[in-house]
Amino acid sequence: MIAIEDVTFHFGKVLALDNLTLKVLPGLSMGLLGPNGAGKSTLIRILVGLLKPQRGSIHVFGEPPSITNTSRIGYMPQLSALYRELSAMENVDFFARMYGLRSKQRRRERVEEVIRLVNLWERRNDPLLHLSGGMRQRVSLACAIVHSPPLLLLDEPTVGLDPELRVSFWEYFHKLTASGVTLVISSHTMDDAAHCDRLVFLRTGRLIAEGTPQGLCQATGRAEATLEEAFLYFIRRK
Ligand SMILES: Nc1ncnc2c1ncn2[C@@H]1O[C@H](COP(=O)(O)OP(=O)(O)OP(=O)(O)O)[C@@H](O)[C@H]1O
Ligand SMILES: [Mg+2]
Repeated sequence: MIAIEDVTFHFGKVLALDNLTLKVLPGLSMGLLGPNGAGKSTLIRILVGLLKPQRGSIHVFGEPPSITNTSRIGYMPQLSALYRELSAMENVDFFARMYGLRSKQRRRERVEEVIRLVNLWERRNDPLLHLSGGMRQRVSLACAIVHSPPLLLLDEPTVGLDPELRVSFWEYFHKLTASGVTLVISSHTMDDAAHCDRLVFLRTGRLIAEGTPQGLCQATGRAEATLEEAFLYFIRRK
């Protein structure tokens, strides 16, 4: 689904990704974990086609990423790209049009479906300005999934969600991967990490470990190690 080989990306003098090689298999969730500035958002933006790496090769669906090819990708940016004056429903409808859902009838059904899915039906006509941070986050997710893309690139989608909603997001993500959707998700929480099929630990643009959550814990040599402990273990080892 995604093949990244020796990818290096600089913002001027800042090395955001350093010789990164990684594969993401279809139908699995891949978690990107790492501290602020580790390169998670940069990697996701490269996969969307918003940034071009200075070195290395990158293939998504067997092709170099291109921003014009968004119909198969659902992207949820870290900073909201929503229109604050429009209602939740209007925002989702805008993205549905942009992603090419042309049939009016089909679009209305799908927009209503995702609005219900993120549990915002009661607030669907409120302008975003009147919604709470977590509610806006839910609108943002609804926009990313409205065209049912086979690949979702979600940059910190669970930030600011209450625990109940976090659980329901993950229930939904598990359903998606079970139906063959591929998920790349960045996060700071080990709670999210534990839900992923595979994890990548990044630090200052470098991949410091990759594996299943269980495998990474076991690699520390202590069977009872937590993911936090595994992360620290790999950081100290590098
Ligand atoms: N537009 C930009 N211009 C210059 N430098 C940037 C830009 N975007 C990111 N960087 C730098 O690239 C590095 C990686 O940033 P990135 O946003 O990918 O990190 P991140 O892992 O997503 O962090 P966070 O957890 O804070 O979201 C950082 O040093 C950051 O300062
Ligand atoms: Mg980021």
